[in-house]
Amino acid sequence: MKIIKRTNMCGELRSSNIGQEVKLNGWIAKARNLGGLVFADLRDRTGIVQITFNDDASDELRQKAMELRSEFSVGVIGTVVERASKNQELDTGDIEVVVKELVIYSISLTPPIYVKDDDNVDDSLRLKYRYLDLRKLQMQNNLRLRHKIAFCARQYFNEEGFLEIETPMLIKPTPEGARDYLVPSRVKQGSFYSLPQSPQMFKQLLMVSGCDRYMQIVKCFRDEDLRADRQPEFTQIDLEMSYVDREDVLQIQEGFIKKLFKETKGIDIKTPLPRLTYKQAMEEYGSDKPDLRFDMKLKTINHLVEKSEFKVFSKVVENGGNVVGINVTGGDAHFSRKDIDKLTAYVKTYGLNGLVWIRNGDELKSSVNKFFNEKELKEILECCNSKKGDLVLIGADSSKVVLEAMGFLRRHVAELMGILSDEEFNLLWVVDFPLFEEDEEGRVKAMHHPFTSPKMEDIDLLDTRPLDVRAEAYDIVLNGVEIGGGSIRIHDSSLQKRMFECLGLSDKECNDKFGFLIEAFKYGAPPHGGIAYGLDRLVMLIAGEKSIREVIAFPKNQNAQCLVCGAPDIASDDMLEELAITVNDKVEN
Ligand code: AMO
Repeated sequence: MKIIKRTNMCGELRSSNIGQEVKLNGWIAKARNLGGLVFADLRDRTGIVQITFNDDASDELRQKAMELRSEFSVGVIGTVVERASKNQELDTGDIEVVVKELVIYSISLTPPIYVKDDDNVDDSLRLKYRYLDLRKLQMQNNLRLRHKIAFCARQYFNEEGFLEIETPMLIKPTPEGARDYLVPSRVKQGSFYSLPQSPQMFKQLLMVSGCDRYMQIVKCFRDEDLRADRQPEFTQIDLEMSYVDREDVLQIQEGFIKKLFKETKGIDIKTPLPRLTYKQAMEEYGSDKPDLRFDMKLKTINHLVEKSEFKVFSKVVENGGNVVGINVTGGDAHFSRKDIDKLTAYVKTYGLNGLVWIRNGDELKSSVNKFFNEKELKEILECCNSKKGDLVLIGADSSKVVLEAMGFLRRHVAELMGILSDEEFNLLWVVDFPLFEEDEEGRVKAMHHPFTSPKMEDIDLLDTRPLDVRAEAYDIVLNGVEIGGGSIRIHDSSLQKRMFECLGLSDKECNDKFGFLIEAFKYGAPPHGGIAYGLDRLVMLIAGEKSIREVIAFPKNQNAQCLVCGAPDIASDDMLEELAITVNDKVEN
C-alpha cells in the first residue's frame, strides 16, 4: 500500500500555506456528503483541518471520498485554498485542502466513544477504549505537556549537574507508609519482592556511592485508596543531593519551578517562594497544603466565647479545643439558609457537629442570636475581619478536628463561589513538619519517612516530647495540592538508631527492614537531602485538569484496574504452581 509521506501536520496549516501542495495523514473526524461534494475533517495530534473533494475530482476519487466515515485512517495529497466560509472555532479555519489523491489505510468500525473533547461519555468506556480517547486533541495536548515538563526537568537538572540513574523495581518494602504491591519470586518460592513506593533508600545509597547529585523520572507504586490526585502507579521526578542543607535544596528547586512555569505557561514565578511553617499552615488555613489563591484565613475566637452562655462554644474551650471562624467575603448574598444547611452537612463529614453562622448584612443575623448580643457578635465579626455583605461561619471541636474541617470548608466555599482560577498558580513551601505523628492506635510513626532528620534544635525533645520534634522536611504546594515533598536526611548511624528507637522498632526489625542502609551509613555517608515531585499532579495542575487520570496515558480506574488490558487478572494454575502459590478465593472481575 502506498504511504503518503507527510509534508505538514493538520493543525499547523494557515493562510500562509495557500497555494501549496500538502501531504497529510490522519483520521477522519467527521465526513459530510453534500450532494456529491464531500467535506471531511482530518485530524492528527496537532489539530483538525477541513479537506474537500470538489467538482474537479475524478469519479473514482469522489466515489472513494463518499466511503469515508469517522475514524478511518487516511492519507491525502491536495492544495491549500482559502475557505469560502471561515470557521472561527478552528485554528485552521481560514483554509481548506482540496484533495487530488486519497489513500484509505484502514477503515474503522463505528467507534464506541465519540472522539471529541467535550464528549460526556461514561468514564469506564473512555478508559476501556483509551486508544480512541487519546485521539482527542485535549488528551494529545496533555500528553505533549507531560513530555514538555519531563523534558524541562531533565534539561534543568542536567545543567545543575544531576545524573539520571535508574534504581531497581524489584526490591524490599520501602518505608513510605502505604501498602506495597508484591511480586512473588519463582526462584525463592514463598518470598516476595515489593514494587518501590519510591526510590528513597536507593537514592540515599547513591549518595553514599559518591554520585553527588541524582535525578530520575521514575514509576512508583502504592496500594492505597484512590482519589482524583492519586493513582496506584504514578511518576515522580525524584532528586537527591549531597553536602546540602535545606536552603540549598529549596533554592535549586525554585530554579526548576521558575524554568518550568516560564517554559510551559510563559509565567514568571517570583522567588523565593513564600513559606509557611506546618504550624502556621494548620492554624491559619486548616491544611498542610493550603490553597493561597484566596485569603479567607481561619481565626481562633476562643477568647471571645470562653465565657459564653452558648455551651457548645464554652465547653469546647474548657476542654482545650478551639472555636474557629472563617469570613466568607460576599457570602451573605451568596449563601441562602438552605445552602448553609448543605455546608453544615459538608463539615459533618469531617467530624464537626455543626456550624454557627453570622450574616453581616444590613441587619446582623445569626444562628446564635439567643446567646450573643449585638456587641458580642460585632466583636466576633471584627476578629474575623468581616465586612458588610460577608458571612462568618464558625465551628467548634478539638483543635485537630475543627482546624481540618474548617480548612476543608474554606476550600469548598471558594469552589462554590467560583473564585478559584485554573490560570492562577500559587506556590509555597510548607516547612518544619512534625517529625512524628500518632497513628490510630496512638503509636508514634514517622510523618514523612524514618530517614528524615529532626531539626537539630529539637533533638533534646526526642525522648521526652517526641511529638513536638520538628523535622527538616518540606513540601511544595501548588493551588492546594501537594506537588512534592522531601527532607534533609539523617546521615549519622547513631542518630538513625535513636530515630528507630523512638519509632519503637527493635534492632531486629530495623535490620530486617533497613539493615542495608544502616550498614552503608557506616562507611562515610555524606550529609544529603532531596525531594520528589509528583509528575502527574504537576501536569494535571498546569494543564488545568481536575484529575491525574487526564494526564496519564493508561491510568487505572477507581478499583485500580486497567480497563484496556484487563489487569489485574487471575493467574493460570501452571503459573501459580511454579510460584508455589495457592489461591483460596478467586474473585472474578
Ligand atoms: P512523598 O511520599 O511525599 O515523598 O511523594 C512525593 C510526591 O509524589 C506524589 N504522590 C503521588 N502522586 C500520585 N499518586 C499517588 N498515589 C502519590 N503519592 C505521592 C505527591 C508527593 O508530593 N521518597 C519521598 C521523597 C523524598 O523524601 O525525597 C516521597 O516519596 O505529589
